[in-house]
Amino acid sequence: VTPADADQVIAYYATGGERDRLTHGEGLLEAARTWSVLDDHLPRPPAAVLDVGGGAGAYALPLAERGYAVSLVDLSPLHVEQARAAGLRAAEVGDARDLRQAAASADVVLLLGPLYHLPEAADRSRALQEARRVLRPGGLLVAAAICRFASLLDGLARRLLDDPVFAGIVEEDLTSGRHVNPDPALLPYFTTAYLHRPDELRNEIACAGFDVLRLVGVEGPGWLLPDVGERMRHPEGRRQLLETARRVESEPSLIGASAHLLAIARPDGRG
Ligand SMILES: C[S@@+](CC[C@H](N)C(=O)[O-])C[C@H]1O[C@@H](n2cnc3c(N)ncnc32)[C@H](O)[C@@H]1O
Repeated sequence: VTPADADQVIAYYATGGERDRLTHGEGLLEAARTWSVLDDHLPRPPAAVLDVGGGAGAYALPLAERGYAVSLVDLSPLHVEQARAAGLRAAEVGDARDLRQAAASADVVLLLGPLYHLPEAADRSRALQEARRVLRPGGLLVAAAICRFASLLDGLARRLLDDPVFAGIVEEDLTSGRHVNPDPALLPYFTTAYLHRPDELRNEIACAGFDVLRLVGVEGPGWLLPDVGERMRHPEGRRQLLETARRVESEPSLIGASAHLLAIARPDGRG
């Protein structure tokens, strides 16, 4: 992010809505599925987890409660303040592209945000190289991306495509992956971002010196259901949504139907 891009990220999150995003609607599905992937791969506590772009601590706080040694870094001063207020002492303002943490100091790096907020490939590469630098040999990277088709599918399901401005944003998303909100102060859409194709995410992570162990679609197609939040609150609805997502999480022909992608990777041991 250029300083102007960073300002845009900070301004977008300044409304404070991010803290509760995962507690309703499709956020419930995103969070439950992300936890399920984390539970499958994280080493046992007390491993050192660096949560880069950790927001207000949606994952950092529960992980700290489970006994992990968690540090959080985020571009947004508001999110860092919220994470600290909720009890996470090791939370600081910082940039994924230039971490102050020592080399080989983390067992796990979570990168659940910065890759989609960095529209330039060179910036995403720097963030990934920083993750690799701070990871111990054999450490684990869990990196999230927003899927290339998320705005198209969301626009269809929620009738946002009726707005020609949104339709224009989607057209550029599909063409180049660059999601540009022309007027973030006025338009109620996501801020400037980068939307990955699954194979692109895999390649970017591999090029930064990782072996990609798994690449999964997070939500599966269920995030598009208008009553997804309600279903997640009922045991059988929740079971069906989670099971559907898990069943097709690695299916190449469906992975792009999720809103988010998660890559699980380890430093490749070459240099
Ligand atoms: C959608 S939130 C995700 C928060 C949390 N990780 C989660 O998955 O729910 C994206 C977060 O990434 C942060 N972020 C964006 N670009 C960043 C960067 N270059 N360095 C650090 N944090 C960044 C934002 O400030 C925001 O808190």
